[in-house]
Amino acid sequence: MSKTDNQVKQLLAEDVKIPQHVAIIMDGNGRWAQLRGKKRVVGHKSGVESVRTSVATAVKYNVKALTLFAFSSENWQRPQTEVNVLMDLFMFVLTREVKRLHKNGIKFKVIGDLSKFSSKLQKMIKASEELTAENSGMVLSIAANYGGRWDITHAAKVLAKKVERQEISADEITEASLNEQTSLANLPELDLLIRTGGDYRISNFLLWQAAYAELYFTDVLWPDFNEIEFTKAITMFDQRERRFGQTGEQVTNKK
Ligand code: IPE
Ligand code: IPE
Ligand code: MG
Repeated sequence: MSKTDNQVKQLLAEDVKIPQHVAIIMDGNGRWAQLRGKKRVVGHKSGVESVRTSVATAVKYNVKALTLFAFSSENWQRPQTEVNVLMDLFMFVLTREVKRLHKNGIKFKVIGDLSKFSSKLQKMIKASEELTAENSGMVLSIAANYGGRWDITHAAKVLAKKVERQEISADEITEASLNEQTSLANLPELDLLIRTGGDYRISNFLLWQAAYAELYFTDVLWPDFNEIEFTKAITMFDQRERRFGQTGEQVTNKK
């Protein structure tokens, strides 16, 4: 074990505050492959191992919910061959991994506009969700054909239909009622949003849910993201002061 490994492990051995809900923008697969003179899709395949490690690490640290950005509503604009590989990979991973997730008591969910996927993939997603629905362990949500703007628009539409049917009045719409219609509504608030791959943007991920999340950006490319890198993010989270609009003094006095 390297010196940093030991340092990170030691840090976590103390009373570290663990985020209840972590989301990750898994970016950098293509560059990881290109740096090795390989095709971009090789990076996507290698990224699957990082997904496995991240799930295991989140479970180990008792994180309650892990949400991973796998495919954005904008990623359809990539070359068709790359989109095809990503879809095949998604199906392959579903077939291979969901049983293992189930054995570990993990509840598996997919968020996003699933209507754009093939009916075969939609069926596989539904079966995987049903298989793990009663599990009481960590909730793993995969964001696929997901966009933060889509999520908010969809929630607004659900409420608009309720108004149309005269089930509620427009004045009854509140932050809480809109929140209820967004993805991940039944989970703990998003505490920590990680982005790998060196860019400093949200790329239309959890716009509504990230309102007060701590943001952590790392240059590490997704296939290189491992337990140590995840631990660094959690350590950083522990050191942040979350003020939620209050002053530093107010927050300190509450402790
Ligand atoms: C993230 O890696 C995975 C997906 C968006 C599906 P990228 O494919 O975006 O990798 P880079 O950013 O081009 O290196
Ligand atoms: C964000 O990465 C989407 C996923 C990780 C699934 P992108 O690589 O698509 O983001 P941009 O295009 O660089 O903003
Ligand atoms: Mg990218």
